[in-house]
Amino acid sequence: MFVPLLIQIYDIMKQLILFANLFVLLVSCEKLVPSLPADDELLDGPVEGLTSAQQAIFLEGDAAFNNQVFTAETGLGSIFVATSCGTCHAGDGKGHPFTTLTRFGQPDTNGNQFLNQGAPQLQNRALPGFTPEQIPAGATSSKFTPPANTGLGFIELVSDADILAMADPNDADGDGISGVPNWKHIPDYLEELDNTISQNGKYICRFGKKAGAYNLLHQTVNAYNQDIGITSVFEPKDVYSGLETDPEVSTQVVNDVVFYLQTLKAPIQRNQDDAQVQQGGQVFINIGCENCHKQTLTTGFSSVDALSNKEFHPYTDLLLHDMGSGLDDGYTEGGALTSEWRTPALWGLGLSPNSQGGQYFLLHDGRATTIQQAIEMHGGEAENSNIQFQNLSQTEKDVLLKFLKSL
Ligand code: HEC
Ligand code: HEC
Repeated sequence: MFVPLLIQIYDIMKQLILFANLFVLLVSCEKLVPSLPADDELLDGPVEGLTSAQQAIFLEGDAAFNNQVFTAETGLGSIFVATSCGTCHAGDGKGHPFTTLTRFGQPDTNGNQFLNQGAPQLQNRALPGFTPEQIPAGATSSKFTPPANTGLGFIELVSDADILAMADPNDADGDGISGVPNWKHIPDYLEELDNTISQNGKYICRFGKKAGAYNLLHQTVNAYNQDIGITSVFEPKDVYSGLETDPEVSTQVVNDVVFYLQTLKAPIQRNQDDAQVQQGGQVFINIGCENCHKQTLTTGFSSVDALSNKEFHPYTDLLLHDMGSGLDDGYTEGGALTSEWRTPALWGLGLSPNSQGGQYFLLHDGRATTIQQAIEMHGGEAENSNIQFQNLSQTEKDVLLKFLKSL
């Protein structure tokens, strides 16, 4: 009886030691593995309030956007820039200058005169046996870093009337700021959004750095075609041969990706209750930043409840502004002049370094490596606001930057 009891005690001791080891391991694991980032540090989740059916489509779109990497077998190229949406839009945050796109073509009265030489977008990579594109002599070009892809469903649902109400083409109020929408002809496959206003067959476009795309379907179809060399029923022509092919991405996948973009949540502001952040928000208004970077917009009706009739805070007016000669790359799109850029949304600004290798690359081509530099490069219609920024005391500048980083 005695020996088995000893053995039993020994067994229990062994278990205890094992357990203790496991405990040490768990505790040290907790130290090694960083804790999950908080929700307000992430950009790539869905808006709150989706139904379970909507969440399922979101996940399908998420997988297509991030995991569907195209190869020669699945239609890539033959000339292209990247092999998936996620390559350039990692974690849906801003992209690094490594993933910059180049667009080219000097416009004349008939639009971009280099369209039959591969314009507007440079496909700088090619499958083996094919030659990547080069910018033809005489063309001007501009570089674009990938923007963050968050909250776009809200932006899509702002009515044209609201956008026009912010425009002031002749600067009637005399504040030196004269935002205009980018009016463009749009492809036949696009259906009119609710609350669209058209003029001489042209429509107000709002996505992209020069506001060249009408809605998220337009942007997505172009991205497949121009960025990855992938045809769809919407845009069946191959970028290299100019010939129509069978769709290389299905309509289902395109629609899922559009839904995914529409239902990506808006960035959540951090430290909203911090007194300095709040003071910074006031300085932002006082020195005229808010004249273009509009704090609050509203959506119209949507069949997706989570997006319908909502107030949101993107810090953009979706209009084009002349930003002066320093930011003039000599490249246009639709009605946008070479010096004109669409006011970028500032929500998520403070999270940019998370997806830009730990630092900032701001403005359309990433030339500004701090927020302060980006402001100091504002010219043209924003010159006055820039001067007011430079005249702030250091304390005022600090609280303004703190506010911008909280977005
Ligand atoms: C080679 C890099 C690259 C790839 C690949 C790419 N994008 Fe983009 N994306 C960009 C850049 C650069 C812009 C800005 C272009 C512009 O302003 O006209 C952009 C703009 C966008 C926008 C507009 C955002 C806004 O704020 O207006 C959306 C939406 C978008 N991309 C979705 C996609 C989807 C969907 C795919 C895949 C089908 C994709 N992108 C593939 C680089 C890329
Ligand atoms: C006249 C309109 C206008 C005014 C006023 C204005 N901005 Fe801008 N802002 C823009 C446009 C347009 C761009 C994009 C320029 C580009 O990409 O080359 C921009 C870009 C930025 C960026 C870089 C964003 C990014 O994602 O790369 C920041 C930051 C910014 N503005 C902050 C401010 C602040 C702070 C003020 C006030 C001092 C201000 N802006 C005033 C129109 C304006």
